Amino acid sequence: MKYTLKNGCKVILRDAQISDAKNLVEYMRKINAESKNLMREPDEFKFTIKQEEKFIQMALDSPNACFMVVLDDNLVISTAEFQGNNLRRVNHRVSLGISVLEDYQNLGLGRIVMEALIKRAIELQKTKMDLEVRIDNLSAIHLYESLGFEKEGIIRNGFFVDNNYIDLLVMGKLL
Ligand SMILES: CC(C)(COP(=O)(O)OP(=O)(O)OC[C@H]1O[C@@H](n2cnc3c(N)ncnc32)[C@H](O)[C@@H]1OP(=O)(O)O)[C@@H](O)C(=O)NCCC(=O)NCCS
Repeated sequence: MKYTLKNGCKVILRDAQISDAKNLVEYMRKINAESKNLMREPDEFKFTIKQEEKFIQMALDSPNACFMVVLDDNLVISTAEFQGNNLRRVNHRVSLGISVLEDYQNLGLGRIVMEALIKRAIELQKTKMDLEVRIDNLSAIHLYESLGFEKEGIIRNGFFVDNNYIDLLVMGKLL
């Protein structure tokens, strides 16, 4: 699917394909170095291209998962994914994660990708989406709230970064 960002840049949003593995490994290295809002310190992303290929294939095959990628020409500029569980008591639920490269933030891309994730979750008959976000990640919280996610709780000291504990907010949306 093609989209035009607020700065006029035209991008493509689609499911990740096996052939994206190398670019995705590069993206993950870059985004983990850029952002302190994600789970990994820069040196903690150790996926090989083969492992990335497996992850992509898992998402393509699973009825409980989705892995989307956004491209500006051949450059990966954003990824988003959700994963769920086969167990019937929690099979209705998926947990999501999203990131956008710094150079492409605040151009409406996060919203485009989140809307696509929500649509896909509904298509997969999921009825609940949730996520965890740093309590000081104001742009992300603003984005999620504007899409109907509500604050559900706090994981106190959920993150440890730069020698500080930071609370995580649990947010969720009924689909
Ligand atoms: C969070 C993230 C995905 C948002 O993506 P994005 O492409 O910048 O999102 P959008 O441009 O669609 O929307 C951002 C919104 O935040 C708003 N915003 C920006 N700075 C803000 C701030 N300090 N306080 C409140 N809102 C803010 C923007 O105005 C925009 O809202 P609007 O559409 O109502 O104008 C992106 O910043 C990112 O990847 N950050 C690094 C990784 C990360 O934090 N991932 C989320 C982990 S839970």
